[in-house]
Parts: sequence; C-alpha cells; structure tokens
Amino acid sequence: MSLTPISGRLPQQSHPKITTTTLREQKLRHEPITCLTAYDYPSARLVDEAGIDMVLVGDSLAQAMLGHENTLSVTMDEMLHHVKAVRRGVRNALLLADMPYGSYQVDEKDAVRNAARFVKEGGTEVVKLEGGEKRVDLIRRIIDAEIPVAGHIGLTPQSVNVMGGYKVQGKELAAIEQLMRDATVLDRAGVSCLFLEGIPREVAAMVTAEISAPTIGIGAGPECDGQVLVFHDVVNLTFAPPAKFVRRFGDAAALIMRAAQGFRADVKSRQYPADEESYHLPRDTRAALDTVLARKRAMGR
Ligand code: KIV
Repeated sequence: MSLTPISGRLPQQSHPKITTTTLREQKLRHEPITCLTAYDYPSARLVDEAGIDMVLVGDSLAQAMLGHENTLSVTMDEMLHHVKAVRRGVRNALLLADMPYGSYQVDEKDAVRNAARFVKEGGTEVVKLEGGEKRVDLIRRIIDAEIPVAGHIGLTPQSVNVMGGYKVQGKELAAIEQLMRDATVLDRAGVSCLFLEGIPREVAAMVTAEISAPTIGIGAGPECDGQVLVFHDVVNLTFAPPAKFVRRFGDAAALIMRAAQGFRADVKSRQYPADEESYHLPRDTRAALDTVLARKRAMGR
C-alpha cells in the first residue's frame, strides 16, 4: 500500500513491517513492544508513522469514539466500519481488532465466521478476544482457520457486569493460580500475544516469564513484554478521570479547544475568511460583470 506522507507535520521515518513473528523476536531480545489503539484514518496514520509496533482497533471505541458507558453495545458492523478506516491508515504496524461482545460468546461457528470477516472485509492481521481457559477451544478453531489470535485476560471489560465493575483482578492466591492457568493454556493454544489488563505487576511479571507469547500490558506494570494504551487517553481526549496507569503524552483537548475558539472569534469578528483565503473571478469575467451591472444600474433595474 502506498500512502502519501502528511506534509510537513512529522519527520518521515521508515519503519519495518511488523508481523506476529516480529513480536516473538522482540520478546526474545527484550525489546519493549508498543501498542496503541486507533479507531479512524487520521489517528491510524499518525500512530503508524510514529513507529508504533501494533495498532489495535479496540472495542474501547464504544466509549472513546461513540460515547457509550461500556464496550458491551458495540456491534460487528460498527467495529468493521472503524477497522476499514484504520486499515487505510496503517502501513507498517501489525493491525489487530477486537471481537466485540456477542460476536464469539454464543456460537463457535459464528465466532470463526466473525473472525474471518475481520480479515476478509477489514484487512485485520490478528483478532483479539477476551477470556482465558474457557475460550481455548474457540481460539484453537480460529487459529485453525488461519487467523492469528491475541488473548486478553485479567480485567476483561466485556465481563464488567460479572466482575461488578472495573476492578483489578488477580489479587488473591486462587485468582493468581487461575490467571497463570489461563495464560499457559492460551500460550499452548498458540496465541500470537497475550494482553494483560488490570492485574498486579508481580502477577504480570510471573506470566511474562512463564509463557513464550509476548505479553502486552495495560495497568499490569513494567515487566510485560509490551505496553498498550488507549489513544484518547494518551492525547487527553477523554472526559472521565483517567485510570491510575494512564499517562498523558499530549493534550489534544487543549489544542482542539484553542482551534475551535480561534475559529469562532475570527468568524464573529469578520477576520475570517480574509481576501487571500477567498476565490476571485478571472479579470475578464470581472470586467464583463461590471459592464452588465453598470448597464442595469443605468436602466434603473
Ligand atoms: O479495547 C481496548 O482498547 C482494549 C485494550 C487492551 C486497551 O482491549
């Protein structure tokens, strides 16, 4: 795919194409893996051009883009709509997409069909789904259909109603044992990577040391093989108080507010648009028009 660079905004660098194999190589040489979410063409282009290794079209788009309270209501068609836009903006990063709630929990055949839609219609390279041991048969079937899978354990937002809120998981011994079992079972099933969300760093470190698949943490401490954050959190485009693990690396809200207020002020004061921002008639058309108008004025019309 050839994309024209964004003129003058960013230093253009060439980054190698990232594949699922690259992730494993990065784990082996202890090179931290970077992952950000993206939900549309411009953010996908910028994140890709910044050299981020993995771009995830997360179902967090339900909150970040669509203003929903949680991820549960987002549909396959809504996800695909965003995946297609992101695909057009991503050139080198590995592209992952979240299977939304309801697209894989009910029927395994439907789940494989839905996973294949992400690949066929959306150009996704890896599909991600939530859950540990209980999802292992499904994960094997999807991998059998030649579709790489990313696992996601710990705080799994699609289980918010079962968990009774967004709570850190794996704090008691039994829960830690279950997490370790989940991780090793998914690793043996062949997941390309494993997202660890909202778990103590000590547990994430144990999982990371135990399995061969790269672990990608969010609220799971620094020992994971990689880190993921939601794009809107990173650039301060969210309206709720941030979680403990969020670090703002920029302030898009302030930038957008300043731009919108500047536009408003200049329109209200008639400073925008200026003459040099307006189109003009060609000189001969202008002369002809002046003649017509003068004749009309002379005739009293
Ligand atoms: O939906 C999402 O954004 C995720 C995270 C891992 C960030 O699943």
